This record gives sequence, C-alpha cells and structure tokens, in this order.
Amino acid sequence: MSTIKTLAWVLYSKDLVAGNYGTLRKEPISFEDISRKEVLIEPLYGGWEANMTHALERKPVDVCHKRGESKVVLGNSGVVRVLKIGPGVTRLKPGDVCVFIPYGPCNRHGYLDTAFGFGFDEPGTIGMLARQTKVKDYQLVPVPGNSQLSLHQWPIISVRFGSGWSNWVVTLKCWEAQVSLEEFPSPHVFGWGGGVTLSELLLAKEKGFNVSMIASCDKRLELIKNLGITPIDRRRFSDLYYDHEKYESDKEYRKKYFASLSTFRKIVNEITGDDGVSIFIENIGLPVYPATMRVLGRPGIIATTGWKKGMNLEINRALECHYRHIHVFTHALRLTEGEKCIAYAAENNWIPRDNYPIYDWEDIPQLAHDYAQGKISSYFPTFQVNPI
Ligand SMILES: NC(=O)c1ccc[n+]([C@@H]2O[C@H](COP(=O)([O-])OP(=O)(O)OC[C@H]3O[C@@H](n4cnc5c(N)ncnc54)[C@H](OP(=O)(O)O)[C@@H]3O)[C@@H](O)[C@H]2O)c1
Repeated sequence: MSTIKTLAWVLYSKDLVAGNYGTLRKEPISFEDISRKEVLIEPLYGGWEANMTHALERKPVDVCHKRGESKVVLGNSGVVRVLKIGPGVTRLKPGDVCVFIPYGPCNRHGYLDTAFGFGFDEPGTIGMLARQTKVKDYQLVPVPGNSQLSLHQWPIISVRFGSGWSNWVVTLKCWEAQVSLEEFPSPHVFGWGGGVTLSELLLAKEKGFNVSMIASCDKRLELIKNLGITPIDRRRFSDLYYDHEKYESDKEYRKKYFASLSTFRKIVNEITGDDGVSIFIENIGLPVYPATMRVLGRPGIIATTGWKKGMNLEINRALECHYRHIHVFTHALRLTEGEKCIAYAAENNWIPRDNYPIYDWEDIPQLAHDYAQGKISSYFPTFQVNPI
C-alpha cells in the first residue's frame, strides 16, 4: 500500500517537550493510503474548537497519553473536499465538498464510544490541522445545494451546532415530559456563553420560546440581541465564580459572590416574572453551577454537553427531586443526526452571519493563542487549510 505525505500542525505528548502547555509545530506527516470504505480529503476550513484548547492545556487529559501516541494532529470540525474514494464508497465522488462529522466508533444505539471522537482522543486519527487526511465515508455529508451559507460556516455544524442539536432534541422531549407546550407554550430558556448554547437558543426561539443568553463582551451581546435573543451582560455579576475552597475560607470572596448572585437572581426574576428559568443550557460547569441551580424553576431542566471550567459537581438530591429538575447530559451527535441537522441548517439559515475571524493556515498557532487568551469575540473562530 502506498503512503500519503502531507503537512500538519502537530501536538506532541508532554513527555517529549519542555513545559506542560502544548504548542503546535508544523511538520511533514505521512499515513497509509485509503482502504475500501475510506476517503482521502483535503480540509478547506476548520473550526477552532474548545476541545483543541483543552488538548493544548492538557486539561482534563493529555490526549497523546490517552491515545498512546507520541504526537497527534487535532481538529474535529471542518468542511472538506473529497480527493479520492476507496472502492467500497458509493455515495461520494472526487470533488464533492462535504461537512465532516466527527463520528467515531459507536455503540448499538449510534452513540459515540470514544469520548471525544475523531481528531481528538480516538487513536490513529489525523484531524483537520493536516493539509490532507483520510476519513470514513459515513463521516462525510455533502454540503446541500440549496444552502445560502458560506463554505466557511459549515465547520460550525461538525461540533458546536451538531452537539447543540443533539442536546436540544433530548432537552425538548424532557421538558414536554413534565409540562406540555399546550399548557405553557413559551418556557424561559437561558444559556451561559458559547457556540453550542447559541445553537440551542436559536432552536428554542424557532419554537416560540422566550430566550436569553449571557455574554461578557459588547460584540457578543450585540450579536445576541440582533438574533432576537435577550442579552444579559455577565459583567454585571462578574464575581459569580464559585470556588468551593474560597467559599469556605474567604469572607471577602463570599460577600462579593453573594452580591453578584443577588444581581443575577434579580435579572432572572425580571425576565421570567419570578417564575424561574425553565431550561438552562450550561456548558461551563463548576463556577456557574450553584447559581444556575438557584434560578432554575420548578420544574426545570439543566442541559449540558460541556464542562469548560470544571466537570465535578456536588448535587443536593433532595432539592433536585423536590424541584423536579431534570439533568440532561449528552455528547456529540447520534449517528443518524448529522444529516438531519445539516438539512435543517441549509433550509433555515440556522448558523448566524457573525463576523468570523478566518485565520490563514500559517497563522493557526496565533489562532490557538488568541482563543486561549479570550481575544476572539466571535463564537466561531475559523481557519483555512487549503485554497477553495
Ligand atoms: N461533549 C460535546 O459533544 C461538546 C461539544 C462541543 C463543545 N463542548 C464543550 O462545551 C464547552 C463550551 O463550548 P463552546 O464551543 O460552546 O464555547 P466556547 O468557545 O468554549 O466558549 C465558551 C463561553 O464560555 C463563557 N465563559 C467562559 N468562562 C466563563 C465563566 N467563568 N462563567 C460564565 N461563562 C464563561 C464565555 O462567554 P462570555 O465570556 O461571553 O460570557 C465563552 O463564550 C467547552 O468546554 C467544549 O469543550 C462539548
């Protein structure tokens, strides 16, 4: 079998480099040519995902260790061009432009086995930070011909909007399991920041729900408002950052925390008419979790697919039962959901026209740096890998 040679931005295991924080190095890589059901592709655009920064930070894991590899090529969202197909591939042809969906090995119900899927912790995969890579045919969905969306918007589906879609499907059903939409047609849906949350709030808004989103910079707040979502400025309660140790030991910290909590509750009460939040999309974790639970109504749903700032939480089971709180946990999308959510995006212009920064191939380390430093106001930092 012949070998394909290309260039990639590579992350080395922390055992092989100085310092814990991972940096990207551009270098030649090679891999075996495609087999029967595989497809050789060149990424056109990729999305810089939170999981890529988690990987560089080695938090919560060193993905190289987890994969048992000395180096990895990250990148699990992208829009790609098909270069060559294996003899067993019937639904694609060279030249097709497709959305990449990071499905990995799945269980019998179509849910991913590998915790974060292709291009992250699934061993042996080469992600979108390579000029060429090979994928399985079922990981590609052709970009619909009826779409008004620009090519660089499609990587947003691969991870952020795809995961949001799957989480919303479950969340909506859970809400309706307790209160029908005939009884209460416009539940209050809130969300802490991020692209995944935005995707779900747009779906909720489409159903006529009352939607509000929290953000901490003017550009994001403006985007949220322009999308018809009530913006909530997080800077108004900037001390709302729960830290258990400080909470127990630092009086000054506790005082500020409670002042912020009080402002936050007041804002929520004003918006919900003291009803509390019906559904809270929360992908941040520990710093916001106790405050989220304080404002969740009865019944209420806390829905998550992320743990940006802390994944281990303490739950008061008695209160959660009493308040009829449903906790929705989902990860990525189900094997059958990719095509549905791509068709929906094409028909409904679901992905907003934000001012996406598009970084060139050579500037990908700068993108990694800017994202980690919180310098990018867009929810969708994007990079170009190959010319269109
Ligand atoms: N399991 C899955 O399938 C899956 C899929 C996609 C994403 N995720 C995970 O979900 C999380 C969110 O990802 P994302 O892509 O939607 O967003 P993102 O790019 O990670 O941005 C997250 C947002 O978090 C907000 N934020 C940061 N620190 C905060 C704090 N202390 N309190 C409140 N808000 C804070 C910021 O909003 P403001 O500063 O504007 O408020 C920021 O816009 C990540 O951890 C990601 O890895 C998981």
